[in-house]
Amino acid sequence: MNPTDNMLMSRVDGAAPMGEFLRENYWFPAILSERLIADGAPQRVRLTGKNYVAWRSTDGRVGFFNEACPHRLVSLTLARNEDNALRCIFHGWKYSVTGETIEIPTEPFRQAELCKRVPLRHYPAREAAGIVWVWLGSDAPAQFPDFEFNSLPDDHVFTVRQDVRYNWVQDVEGGMDAAHVSQLHSSWIAGLAEVGNAGADSAPVYEFEDTPGGFRYAAIRHLPDGKRYIRVNQYVAPWFSFICPDQVPDGERLCLISVPTDDTNAVHWMVRYSPHRPLQPSYMMPKPVPSNPDADRSSWPPNPPGTAENIWGQDREAMRNGSFTGFTEHLVTEDFVVAESQGAIVDRSKEFLNQGDRAVIAVRRILLDAVKAFQRGEPHAITRHENVAYPAVRPTGDVVDETADWRELSL
Ligand SMILES: [Fe+2]
Repeated sequence: MNPTDNMLMSRVDGAAPMGEFLRENYWFPAILSERLIADGAPQRVRLTGKNYVAWRSTDGRVGFFNEACPHRLVSLTLARNEDNALRCIFHGWKYSVTGETIEIPTEPFRQAELCKRVPLRHYPAREAAGIVWVWLGSDAPAQFPDFEFNSLPDDHVFTVRQDVRYNWVQDVEGGMDAAHVSQLHSSWIAGLAEVGNAGADSAPVYEFEDTPGGFRYAAIRHLPDGKRYIRVNQYVAPWFSFICPDQVPDGERLCLISVPTDDTNAVHWMVRYSPHRPLQPSYMMPKPVPSNPDADRSSWPPNPPGTAENIWGQDREAMRNGSFTGFTEHLVTEDFVVAESQGAIVDRSKEFLNQGDRAVIAVRRILLDAVKAFQRGEPHAITRHENVAYPAVRPTGDVVDETADWRELSL
């Protein structure tokens, strides 16, 4: 990938085409629903380098505005939250949860008329899977991404998110990189059924199938007993990665969502869900982790314990005692470490790739083609997700014999 394409694909700040493409085409996961309390503190949300304010009104609705008050640009995170409205603390201008300006207390003559002309930007918001989703586009919203996790009972789905310190595309790539599981996560998966099988063959062969809005692919590993361990992951552009359950075929699934905060920061969302039953305790999620009884789902899994200056806090003693990576906080901490160490925006023109990177390459091709089509004013297959059948998107996997076809695995 040449450096110009790399930046076109990665950068979202300011007038970057990718930022505009994302805002105009997709609902963004913005903030955990639980962070917004009726009449409570408004929260800052940063997406594609722009700051917004999210808040919950007296009667429970979500309001979503630009952070800056349209009057003199004071932060509305400071605002009073009362009577289903935000009131700026500077001059008391008051904005309803549905986006009307309802009071301009500093205007002596023509308050009602002026209220109608205040250019408050108000964005549609919806809640599902414990996430507040927002539509930032200028046109009418695209269809809501109604994946199956967005309509499951509360105890069948659990969502966490973490701020990560690198570009969002690196985070997407981590989700769609099946080969690294055998290496980076070898200590975490050892002994686990069935994902532990990934340790038996570090060179999975990939097979692909185009799907609306992206693709799915099988990572096929050969086991010592002649069977094959198959993991089928699915990418739904621009940022959804559906990951095969650890326990196949019908264990708990994972959807990763990699949302750009700005050019060099992202939010790594993890939605764990089961279509079949309430979620069970798991090392993947905070509550069942004994060492983290109070883990905050707005900041989970843990980021690396250090930074580049101290080699991210890597624990060489733990490595001597059997940890492959020296990061024992969480499996996903290992993902955060390697992505952060690539640099804030990795220079893909300097890479040397192999067969194990084919899914990552497929992601890049879609994102780059889509943003180039957007620049030309043309639609692309992923634009506005027009033909994605959301409830049908399911990752899967199984241990099968030589003759089985991965495309026929039950979903
Ligand atoms: Fe990983």
